[in-house]
Amino acid sequence: MAAMLHGRRILLIIAGGIAAYKSLDLIRRLRERGAAVRGVLTKGGAQFVTPLSVATLSRDKVYQDLFSLTDESEIGHIRLARECDLVVVAPATADLLAKMAHGLADDLASTLLLATDKPILVAPAMNFVMWNSAATQGNLATLRQRGVRSVGPESGELAEGETGMGRMSEPLSIVAAIEDLLGAGGPLRGKRALVTSGPTYEAVDPVRFIGNRSSGKQGHAIAVALAALGADTTLVSGPTHLADPPGVAVKRIESAEEMLAACQAALPADIAVCAAAVADWRARERRNQKIKKNGSLPALELTENPDILATLSGKGPARPRLVVGFAAETEDVIKNATAKRRRKGCDWIVANDVSAATGTFGGDANTVHLIDASGAETWPRLPKDDVARRLAQRIADHFKQP
Ligand code: CTP
Repeated sequence: MAAMLHGRRILLIIAGGIAAYKSLDLIRRLRERGAAVRGVLTKGGAQFVTPLSVATLSRDKVYQDLFSLTDESEIGHIRLARECDLVVVAPATADLLAKMAHGLADDLASTLLLATDKPILVAPAMNFVMWNSAATQGNLATLRQRGVRSVGPESGELAEGETGMGRMSEPLSIVAAIEDLLGAGGPLRGKRALVTSGPTYEAVDPVRFIGNRSSGKQGHAIAVALAALGADTTLVSGPTHLADPPGVAVKRIESAEEMLAACQAALPADIAVCAAAVADWRARERRNQKIKKNGSLPALELTENPDILATLSGKGPARPRLVVGFAAETEDVIKNATAKRRRKGCDWIVANDVSAATGTFGGDANTVHLIDASGAETWPRLPKDDVARRLAQRIADHFKQP
């Protein structure tokens, strides 16, 4: 058996449904593939499977009680929620999905689901009428929109003797969804990637800043695409309205200097993709008090920000093996971007035309040219998610070469 999940840590929440018995087999299947499984039982879950079965199969302690003092002194619920690569809820009952959708935290399972910063996969199981109810479907839609992934349910005979949609997926289907989500066996497994995204805000005084309109969509999509191919990905993001993508370690920063520090803290990395629209300048002096209008215009003295792409591209043992920059151009796109690649010292540059007519900045699609030492390749106009996936695949192909 290929240990596709070797070293991966899964927090498995078993809620109260007859399908809980299948979760015991799920633990076995995950362990066979090299994953470490830590079990959490809800009160309802413990009606269907015993803590002893879960502990025996997972070879770990089973967690059940939010207020258990021993658990809190040993590990604490925040650590429990984060010391894993993925949270799996199987079976996910209508009740637990509702709690998740509304952010309730009234027992250990719901609290962990609210406190985790890791991706979540739910395997719903319930009666088909409950499954089809507007409430459950609405809750699931909300969760999906927030990045929660789901597998199943499937159609078949239900425990009550009725037939319909609502059976929990079989353990092997859940394992396949887990492998997919963790990028297990993906071509970038074992590689570390660093992605910058969004704008930076450079404070002028406590209320004003210098910034730009970057949405972060392209950078975030690249982080997701690299993680989906198995890369251990850190996203260093300036202020955006986007949710933290699941499966990616997100460091939120404001200024260019903070972005550089966060990038350096994320090294060593094999891959760096600088998609952030870093403010070129910051105020030389950040005022501690709000600048007041006093009849004359304030003189704002600027100083240059550190160039993160050029810094990461600089020679030295910490240089990522592949550094990719972006070039936002409004004219002579390929010529300017080719010169920019040389100037910055990066390996590849993704050039895009951001003139107003293209709608690239803040929009959902992008026409890019991928430029390396050998020349430029023009890609068709694609949604930003597809640009990201194509770039991630090119990066994977690059690492495949001997
Ligand atoms: N970049 C960076 N740090 C900066 C400035 C830019 O990391 N302080 C990175 C961006 O993330 C992007 C590339 O450098 O990958 C863009 O280079 P830049 O010189 O800012 O080019 P443009 O934004 O295209 O602007 P200009 O043409 O004015 O140089």
